[in-house]
Amino acid sequence: MRTYAGATPLQATLRDCRQQGQRIAFVPTMGNLHEGHLELVRRAHSLADIVVVSIFVNPLQFGPGEDLDRYPRTLAADKEKLFSEGVQLLYVPEVAEIYPEGMGIHTQVQVPDLSETLCGSSRPGHFNGVTTVVNKLFNIIQPDVAVFGEKDFQQLSIIRKMVKDLCMPIRIEGVATARDTDGLAKSSRNGFLNAEQRRVAPLIHHTLLACRDAIACGFDNFLQLESHARMQLLQAGFEPDYFAIRDAHTLRAVTEQTEEIAILAAARLGSTRLIDNVRLALN
Ligand code: PAJ
Repeated sequence: MRTYAGATPLQATLRDCRQQGQRIAFVPTMGNLHEGHLELVRRAHSLADIVVVSIFVNPLQFGPGEDLDRYPRTLAADKEKLFSEGVQLLYVPEVAEIYPEGMGIHTQVQVPDLSETLCGSSRPGHFNGVTTVVNKLFNIIQPDVAVFGEKDFQQLSIIRKMVKDLCMPIRIEGVATARDTDGLAKSSRNGFLNAEQRRVAPLIHHTLLACRDAIACGFDNFLQLESHARMQLLQAGFEPDYFAIRDAHTLRAVTEQTEEIAILAAARLGSTRLIDNVRLALN
């Protein structure tokens, strides 16, 4: 596995790969890699000859008072995991390489509407930070395919929309959420939970599943389902941010045209913000 801090030598290597007719898959991450990230890497291998992973804790997607400073940075362990997975190229840029003029005035990429709801309303500017950095990384790497997790379902929807709206010749591949055996979605932030918080954390997934089961059984009072779920989370010690039943394609309210429902939740346990979602196809 070759590791690059600079875009120029990485691009030279990628040019050679392309000249040899090799397909390139890209997995962007912020590091502190777990089984969820490695599932993306495995999917990437199945879709291309060369897998490029980036590790970059992107300051632009963290709001004031969020966990940028305490975000776990575990590069040595991450490299070992990626090496074991057969990743050929790792890109680990410094902040100054991605934002040479600092965090002030520079071009940003914004996907309106989809970026403003759910996590976007509690984390203003977060998704502009995500789309801007993913755009930069796409331009540097120019992959044939890029792989993202369904755990961050809103992020995946926004990236798909950006790629479509900006006519980017990149296939976007979504991968199912990797979970611990008790249902908790794997996340770099789970390490912040103390033993008691870790014990109750899977409730977020169980509440989503119970809601999905109720809808599948024909219960259609969504407002009641949402407020019941929020109450359950509150009683267990969560501070729910949202619990929402939405159209999986628009992330807006469910309508007669909805073909698939997404049920999405975000809740804080202590100072740790957890998100999760499940989906239900309607027929
Ligand atoms: P990060 O949180 O490191 O996640 C990197 C990728 O791993 C994302 O596509 C995310 O959806 C996926 N992922 C995380 N946990 C997962 C799980 N339990 N199962 C499946 N996939 C999982 O998401 C980001 O970084 C950043 O916003 C980024 C896209 C890199 C832009 O900075």
